[in-house]
Amino acid sequence: MSVILKQLDSLLEDIQYEISLLANTSAFLNQVLEDVSWVGFYLLQDNKLILGPFQGKIACTTIPLGKGVCGISAQEKKIYRVDNVHGFPTHIACDSASNSEIVLPILWNDTLYGVLDIDSISVSRFQEKDQILLEQLLQVLQKHIERVKG
Ligand code: SME
Repeated sequence: MSVILKQLDSLLEDIQYEISLLANTSAFLNQVLEDVSWVGFYLLQDNKLILGPFQGKIACTTIPLGKGVCGISAQEKKIYRVDNVHGFPTHIACDSASNSEIVLPILWNDTLYGVLDIDSISVSRFQEKDQILLEQLLQVLQKHIERVKG
């Protein structure tokens, strides 16, 4: 396990509540990732995405499935790395200064739980190596969510 994965693992190991796991994971990502302007979770509820714990500017509170990078990623259960969000049809501009974005769906046995959304002011901020690291970090988070849900 790389150092950053171990750091998240030990940060989460004493946390007993799902909301607190998500909250401190968003804070951790905001601290360790360079050049990011917004980091947070949208969670599936009532067949739409609702704003979860995050770090950054005020954001839209609900996103329909199939709309924006988050809604499309959630609907297709597929990771989206968008080099320039202004060229992405249906993109929802919560912060007009944001230029690139990565969205990773979070799944339990193929059932959608929510998405992790990260934005950056820089164009093409998120590369394949970032995606791989974020997938690994999400596995650590999921292990702890499973633990607290029992
Ligand atoms: N830009 C996102 C909406 C969420 S905010 O970036 C926090 C989208 O198009 O899904």
